[in-house]
Amino acid sequence: MEGTVELTEKDAGATSPVGEPFADGYDGDIDKVLVTREQLQAKLRELGDQITRDYRGRDVLLVAVLKGAFMVMADLARHIHLPVDFDFMAVASYGAATQTSGVVRILKDLDRDIEGRHVLLVEDIVDSGLTLNYLLKNLRGRRPATLEVCALLQKKGIQRVALDLRYVGFEIPPDFVVGYGLDYAEKFRNLPYIATLKPEAYADPA
Ligand code: IMP
Ligand code: MG
Repeated sequence: MEGTVELTEKDAGATSPVGEPFADGYDGDIDKVLVTREQLQAKLRELGDQITRDYRGRDVLLVAVLKGAFMVMADLARHIHLPVDFDFMAVASYGAATQTSGVVRILKDLDRDIEGRHVLLVEDIVDSGLTLNYLLKNLRGRRPATLEVCALLQKKGIQRVALDLRYVGFEIPPDFVVGYGLDYAEKFRNLPYIATLKPEAYADPA
């Protein structure tokens, strides 16, 4: 990834309320921090500014894909200076814990009709791209006025379908990452940065 650096624990921005560095509660499961809290926040401000410029004069409907995108959605939205509505979808893809099969099941659909709306789909990460590909097809069928994607992370070089991503935060290597909404076995979503896990962390998912 462009600008990837070796970071100290303090750089990760993970300080406990009493100021102890790296007291994240995950006891040594974190291997490397790929994107720091500061890098994430600076990028979301930049994307928010860009979206504000691009959508000026239009009402935006932000659609986040749960659960992973909840952090991106919350922080990004605060940098969009336009009238914005929110809606959420939850999907599950059949497959192993760290891989997608491409078969997607909608667990929670949108609350409202999106016909004629300017829809911006907010995603945490594009890995194979199969989930997003399915969602875009599904949403396009509901005839929105426009449909674009803002993905915080895109894994480099492994998309199995061609996708048109209007806004991308960071390109990262194709490793499994956690934090800032992303989980392994439902843990690690609350980390304020993006990191890889040590091999031991996969051995015994709690
Ligand atoms: P895709 O269909 O392969 O692009 O994967 C899409 C979904 O799989 C994402 O929205 C995530 O929920 C999950 N996912 C993919 N890669 C990772 C990862 O590195 N860490 C955590 N979740 C991931
Ligand atoms: Mg997930």
